[in-house]
Amino acid sequence: MVSIIVAIAQNGTIGDKNSLLWHIKEDMRFFRTTTSGHAVVMGRKTFESLGSKPLPKRTNIVITRQNVEFEGALTAHSLEEAIRLAEGDEEIFIIGGAQIYAEALKVADRMYITHVERSYEGDTSFPEIDYTQWTLTAVERHERGEEYESPFEFRTYDRK
Ligand SMILES: NC(=O)c1ccc[n+]([C@@H]2O[C@H](COP(=O)([O-])OP(=O)(O)OC[C@H]3O[C@@H](n4cnc5c(N)ncnc54)[C@H](OP(=O)(O)O)[C@@H]3O)[C@@H](O)[C@H]2O)c1
Repeated sequence: MVSIIVAIAQNGTIGDKNSLLWHIKEDMRFFRTTTSGHAVVMGRKTFESLGSKPLPKRTNIVITRQNVEFEGALTAHSLEEAIRLAEGDEEIFIIGGAQIYAEALKVADRMYITHVERSYEGDTSFPEIDYTQWTLTAVERHERGEEYESPFEFRTYDRK
């Protein structure tokens, strides 16, 4: 199964200047526990946004058009190749960014979306989602975080 995992602001933004726009402890924890032990697939820019260090306890796969290697990660030259490299993992996580999400939306079976109920100015947005193709299967609402003042909701969508 291929799953997208992403946090999206009310106005669709997911990042700015190659970094995240918010820090929500609960979301970081959700991301870590959901993806740990699995393969995580990301674009070269997202890998750089993580300090070019692999996420621990996960098989990191970085997608690039360049002929380069990344320390601690496998390299793929397309999303299809990345998914092939992760074969055997029962849930492969596509962790961004926007370019990779745009391709993954066509093939993903599931999406874990953290809907951040606040708008943020940013240079990177999640592609438009056709929600008629997805069934909402889980919702967990937080009126605020331990250190974050706006509401956010963890939602799981499965492809119809
Ligand atoms: N809110 C969230 O949940 C979340 C999650 C992840 C990332 N983000 C944010 O998203 C932003 C980064 O997203 P982005 O869209 O700019 O970059 P990205 O998708 O992370 O990486 C783009 C790079 O991936 C490679 N690539 C893309 N399509 C490819 C293809 N078809 N074949 C081979 N390689 C391909 C290219 O690398 P080369 O240039 O090396 O060829 C391209 O420059 C950052 O601000 C980050 O913080 C947010």
